[in-house]
Amino acid sequence: MRSRTKYDYRKYIAIVAFLCTKPQWGIQRIKQRIRQWKDRWHKKRVVEYNNCLYSFEDAITSVTHLQAPEIKKLRASASVAELKQYISDTISHVSGPSFPLSSCASFILGEACYIVCRALKPKVVIETGVAYGITTAFILKALEENQQGILYSVDLPLPILGYKKFVGLAVPPQLKERWRLHIGAAEHVLPGILKTVTGLGIFVRDSHHTYASMLREFEIVWPYLNSGGLIISDDADINDALLDFAGAKKVTPVMIPQPEKQVKIGMFLK
Ligand SMILES: C[S@@+](CC[C@H](N)C(=O)[O-])C[C@H]1O[C@@H](n2cnc3c(N)ncnc32)[C@H](O)[C@@H]1O
Repeated sequence: MRSRTKYDYRKYIAIVAFLCTKPQWGIQRIKQRIRQWKDRWHKKRVVEYNNCLYSFEDAITSVTHLQAPEIKKLRASASVAELKQYISDTISHVSGPSFPLSSCASFILGEACYIVCRALKPKVVIETGVAYGITTAFILKALEENQQGILYSVDLPLPILGYKKFVGLAVPPQLKERWRLHIGAAEHVLPGILKTVTGLGIFVRDSHHTYASMLREFEIVWPYLNSGGLIISDDADINDALLDFAGAKKVTPVMIPQPEKQVKIGMFLK
């Protein structure tokens, strides 16, 4: 049996501290555990995601006006390369308890967020699930280059003491002007944000990957999303939520493979 490490004990202390100081966060985490357990009944259609699988370029073309050469050019641009370097350097210097690297977004998702934001020029972007802020940084980079748009991000931090210094750590300080960070559970925080914004062009969902959480977030955001607006979800083929939701709204999803993560990115337009 694995012996307990210093990190395990800090984690337990953190969970108790969270339950005492932020009981609603503790309750949400317990709810999410139960949802995870129930997910075994919501994986009946996952093979169908393979029918919507496209290359990166074809998927982006289908949701924007961009053609493959323009997409490749943006993907290979100096600003994307610089941002990736900044993110890698920043994350490699993190020590002690922190977000597991396996739960960080891939650069493929970051690039997809960057390119769709450059192409669709949204006035408002909302994302759920920040962690170190890889997707956050790519979206903010695009908004800065567009010279318009605000990003609202929501994160319910992992029970780590000192979590505040980790959330969005990889976001370059000079990009933070267009960023509004909200801490809490997405399904509780989103309605308040949505009441105060107009012109939601893109929603990036990367918080808790269970059927109930994903479906709930899609349902909350959908009425506020511009017609022609875009939803992107990481880990989209992990359960039936995206297919069930897209089917109910009669829209067609496209999926992008992420070889390094073995889960797909899903996208669909309203
Ligand atoms: C997969 S990570 C996000 C990765 C991030 N997009 C990136 O670019 O690396 C998921 C994040 O969502 C947070 N989270 C978990 N449940 C949540 C919830 N109900 N609402 C908002 N955030 C949540 C986790 O603490 C974690 O920071």
